[in-house]
Amino acid sequence: MPIDQKIRELQERRNKILQGGGDKAIQKQKAMGKGTARDRIMILLDEGSFSEYDMFVEHEARDFDMDKKSLPSDGVIIGTGTIEGAPIAIFAQDFTVAGGSLGLMHSRKITKIMDHALKMRIPLIGINDSGGARIQEGVNSLAGYGEIFFRNTLSSGVIPQISVILGPCAGGAVYSPALTDFVFVVQNISKMFITGPEVIKTVLGEEISMEDLGGARVHSEVTGNAHFYAESEDECFAKIKELVSYIPWNNDRKAKCIKPAEPKNDYDINNIVPSDPTLPYDVKDVIRSVTDKSEFFEIQRHWAKNMVIGFGRINGATVGFVANQPLELAGVLDVDSSDKSARFIRYCDAFNIPIITFVDLPGYLPGVDQEHAGVIRHGAKVLYAYSEASVPKITVIIRKAYGGGYIAMGSRHLRADFVFAWPGAEIAVMGPEGAANIIFRKEIMASDDPEATRKAKVEEYKTKVANPYVAAAKGYVDAVIEPCETRRLLIHAIEVSGNKSVALPAKKHGIPPF
Ligand code: HXC
Repeated sequence: MPIDQKIRELQERRNKILQGGGDKAIQKQKAMGKGTARDRIMILLDEGSFSEYDMFVEHEARDFDMDKKSLPSDGVIIGTGTIEGAPIAIFAQDFTVAGGSLGLMHSRKITKIMDHALKMRIPLIGINDSGGARIQEGVNSLAGYGEIFFRNTLSSGVIPQISVILGPCAGGAVYSPALTDFVFVVQNISKMFITGPEVIKTVLGEEISMEDLGGARVHSEVTGNAHFYAESEDECFAKIKELVSYIPWNNDRKAKCIKPAEPKNDYDINNIVPSDPTLPYDVKDVIRSVTDKSEFFEIQRHWAKNMVIGFGRINGATVGFVANQPLELAGVLDVDSSDKSARFIRYCDAFNIPIITFVDLPGYLPGVDQEHAGVIRHGAKVLYAYSEASVPKITVIIRKAYGGGYIAMGSRHLRADFVFAWPGAEIAVMGPEGAANIIFRKEIMASDDPEATRKAKVEEYKTKVANPYVAAAKGYVDAVIEPCETRRLLIHAIEVSGNKSVALPAKKHGIPPF
């Protein structure tokens, strides 16, 4: 056969496959505000950069009339490309083909690209849009999921793994995204749950919609399973590109440095924190007052809002911020905020990203609910994550640093490399009011004017203990600084710690309070 004819045959074969599950299924997909698997890849990757593998893979199922069905690309597109020049491995499930269900060959395509990403040490992005295990393929489908989960775990901490939920992701299928570093969801499109509404109705007799059970908002605000929420697929892809710009390709590299830029002039950092310690303020203003262009890429913005985490740049270099948020629950540590911060600290540590901590918290949240929800176990994760992290750790105590909160939030005692305190910092076992009520109780009760005595004792406690100078006198705080000096000192700290090297005791691995 002449080459022209062979090329034409190739083109015809390709064109047939490019039609995916056919016009009707594609129209149904689009009517839901969803792109096709190929559209999604093309929008996300740099133009012309996608190189597809295994386009001609065929399923091998024979039962339930499957031998009569052709499933183009077996319902999943895999390949490599770039995002703003950064190499990426990607898979996208094609819901138009058998509901994107995962059979043996479908799973082999996914594990092939996962192996490739790990071998090449490049980030992996998985676009999930699937009815789950392909029912006709039985245990082969389950085996496929197992192989995927195993690889997610091996790749964890070596290459960044990003999951994008752009359709159903049900049953055991949810555990692949849950094992990855970042999960993106889109309003009205993403659905994630272990057991669906039908099963819940049968077993528990309760009626619930898919949206209320495991929609995008639920996972962004309630469960914390999702890290980024978007209102459309396009917004979601823009966010993924932004994330990729902040992180390194693998754990042997540092994130790409970009041209340094000054913060905007909108922030008067000396006056962000109110002088009345009972008044709240937005800690994101503090973060934006020190970052390049005042940009802050927040992660899990809608969940555990008493803790703020995310990426920014200091003099062009990516840093991770961990900050108590006085606007929510006075910035306390609780079960969810502990989980949120501990996981992020471990992410930064795995991927060579310095951690900057802004501290302002009255401690751990008291209460039966928190105790019974395991605040001891969850809170311990923060201590573990900071202690173990060997990337540069820079801590700035803005205002309150009471009790266990002082220790947990990147203190010197957990080996922060630099600890700065602003002049209004209060470092103590507990707040001055509570402390004075306990240690001067007898004097207050015996006094002719208990209220006046109480106030005087609170002031005495503040002067003696609740300030940064006692900690500075012991070297627990390296310097008490003016807020407006913070950015300069952060830049310096990051430069100085560029070659930081610490050796942890040799071990197979630790046993964190999971
Ligand atoms: C085979 C499937 C399928 C599946 C969907 N399809 N899910 N085929 N196995 N799991 C097929 C449908 O038969 C249909 O084919 C096409 O995909 C589109 O599906 P629709 O139902 O028409 O779409 P929609 O109305 O949008 O509903 C989507 C859906 C629903 C909610 C996801 O399809 C559904 O409930 N599917 C089953 C979900 C499920 O229970 N999966 C197993 C989970 S357990 P035709 O030919 O008609 O177009 C699991 C275990 C994993 O995954 C364990 C791992 C550890």
